[in-house]
Amino acid sequence: MEIIITPNYEQMGKLAAKLVAQQLLKKPSAVLGLATGSTPISTYKELIRLHKEEGLDFSKVITFNLDEYLDLAPTHDQSYRYFMDHNLFHHINVDPKNIHVPYGHAEDVEEFCEWYEDEIRRAGGIDLQILGIGGDGHIAFNEPGSSLGSRTRLKTLTQETIEDNARFFKNKDDVPRFAITMGVGTILEAKKVILVANGAKKAAIVAEALEGPITAQVSASVLQMHPHVTVILDQEAGSKLKRADYYKWVYNEKKRLIPRMIGKMT
Ligand code: PGA
Repeated sequence: MEIIITPNYEQMGKLAAKLVAQQLLKKPSAVLGLATGSTPISTYKELIRLHKEEGLDFSKVITFNLDEYLDLAPTHDQSYRYFMDHNLFHHINVDPKNIHVPYGHAEDVEEFCEWYEDEIRRAGGIDLQILGIGGDGHIAFNEPGSSLGSRTRLKTLTQETIEDNARFFKNKDDVPRFAITMGVGTILEAKKVILVANGAKKAAIVAEALEGPITAQVSASVLQMHPHVTVILDQEAGSKLKRADYYKWVYNEKKRLIPRMIGKMT
C-alpha cells in the first residue's frame, strides 16, 4: 500500500483528484467507482474545478457508485444518487447513461444486485475505485462481519453507522436501516483503489485497517491484500499510525507542497 499523509482535508482531495485525472488522461473511457459521504467532497470539488478550468473530460467515463439506501428514491435529498448529482454529476460532462448508482427502489433487490454486478463486468471492471472508511471500518456499507468475498447485496446497517449518518437526517428514526452495497469481493476486483480519510475521528480505525490484522471485523483491512491501493489521509486521520515510513506531504519554504518520503515506501 502507498500511504500518503497530506497537510489538510483540501490537499487530501486535491491529490485524490489528481490521481483520478491521471487515470482519465491515460484512459478517457475509464470505469470509475465512486463513493459518497463527507470525505470525498473535496475530491469531487477539485474534479469539478479540473473539468471547468482545465478541460478534464468525463464524456466517455462510466461510473458505478458503491451503495445506496434501501427505499430512498433517487430524488430524496438524502439518497446517494441525489448526493452524487449535486456534488459531482451535474457539474461535469459525464453522460447520464453511463452513470450507475444502486437503485433503492428496486422491486427485486436480489435480481437488481446481480444485474449491477453484471453491468460492472460488462463495462470491463472498475479501473479506479474511490473509497471512504466508516467509523466501524466499513468500506461501502460492508459493515463488520461482512464476508471478505461478498458481492453486491442488501446489508443491514449497524447502530454505529445509523448514528454516524443521523446528522444528515431530521431525526435518527429517519435513517434507513438497510442499504444495497457492493461487496468486499466486488471492491477487491477494482484494478486500483484510492482510500481517502480525514479528521481525528477516523484516526483509530485508519490505524486498525492499515496496520492491524486483516479481519472481517474491519472490512477496510482487506485492502492490505489489494495489489494497487493508495491511501490519502489528512494529518489527523494519519495521527495514530505507528510506522514512520509513510509519505508525508509538507510545505516547503515557498509554501509549495512537496512529497517527502519518510523512510521507504511500504
Ligand atoms: P464519511 O463516511 O465520509 O461521511 O465520514 C465514510 C463512510 O461511511 O464510508
